[in-house]
Amino acid sequence: KIFPVILSGGSGTRLWPLSRDLLPKQLIPLVASNSLLAETARRVAGAGFAGPLVVCNEDHRFIVAEQLRAVGCTPTAIVLEPVARNTAPAVAAAAAIALARDPDALLLVLPSDHVISDEAAFAKAAAMAAKAAERGKLVTFGITPTKPETGYGYIARGKVLDGVPGAYEVERFVEKPDRATAESYVASGTWTWNSGMFLFPAKLLLAELSRFDAAIVDAAMKSVEKAESDLVFTRLNRDAFADAPSQSIDYALMEKTDKAAVVPADLGWSDVGSWSAMWELGDKDNHGNVAIGDVIALDTEGCYLRGDGHLIATLGLKDVVLVVGKDVVMAASKDRAQDVKKIVTELKSRG
Ligand code: GDD
Ligand code: MG
Repeated sequence: KIFPVILSGGSGTRLWPLSRDLLPKQLIPLVASNSLLAETARRVAGAGFAGPLVVCNEDHRFIVAEQLRAVGCTPTAIVLEPVARNTAPAVAAAAAIALARDPDALLLVLPSDHVISDEAAFAKAAAMAAKAAERGKLVTFGITPTKPETGYGYIARGKVLDGVPGAYEVERFVEKPDRATAESYVASGTWTWNSGMFLFPAKLLLAELSRFDAAIVDAAMKSVEKAESDLVFTRLNRDAFADAPSQSIDYALMEKTDKAAVVPADLGWSDVGSWSAMWELGDKDNHGNVAIGDVIALDTEGCYLRGDGHLIATLGLKDVVLVVGKDVVMAASKDRAQDVKKIVTELKSRG
């Protein structure tokens, strides 16, 4: 059986002030009338998979449950993290939960902060990946890169996988390279972006991860053994889970394993990571502005303007992000959109 594992633990600080700890980006209707989490759940509901394991912070349990219900998704469990330990412990805990139900469980790991516009291609790629996983592979999905983005993982493909045309051995996996390296990868034509989605045999995932970082697997297994479960929620044991090193699955496993495969896939994929990504995704007027809500934009070009109930009026602006929230105005140069998280760090340091 394939268990989708939906990761919903990030706080999306680059989309401040819309994305906040209490209501992070994956839980708000950013690009469609559904949230990104709800869209992720809707894509897997009724696709022939088991009900998903949704892993999130315990503070978000009711809003997550409600958003799943609203799109007709019945989860196997909503797995509650007492503390955030990044994606490797979250995936390991999900693997332990899935294995208790099916010793041959496959995990379709899905971030909750993506847009996928070609759902048929997604279903096809997942089916292909499942074949590779059944042959003992930790499968990634490769996206054709369009720019030297340093916030992504990069995958160099090797030869076609025996018996699974459409899947390839992974020669190298490099997480978040520096700018010059990313530029050389994009120019080479042989590297793809890592989509952040994976298809893992649960047992193999735990075995491989144990080889590289046994503490992650130990902590995750214990947190599941001592978890408290009801019909909907599985609350991981706090002390056990807190012992897990904070590490992403990309660094902890994918950079190190020699059992990775990649399915190149053209999914209409985008990562909704920053305000410049929101501008790229948005509908633009004749001057390249994305205007959400009540906006007067005179001699204004290439801007992202979002008013949240306030009238926004601009004059002579170029390539600016202006987001007005209930109690805050955030203005940034569009090419500094990746640094918006610095504002959040500054705010937190003020307490
Ligand atoms: N449950 C849980 N707990 N989920 C988490 C946690 C956590 O502690 N931390 C992050 N997540 C969720 C996020 O909400 C997101 O949906 C997903 O896991 C990926 O985490 P990100 O923090 O957004 O990772 P990234 O964007 O820096 O990098 C990953 O995605 C890129 C593509 O978007 C990597 O897989 C890259 O290799 C990849 O290119
Ligand atoms: Mg991300």
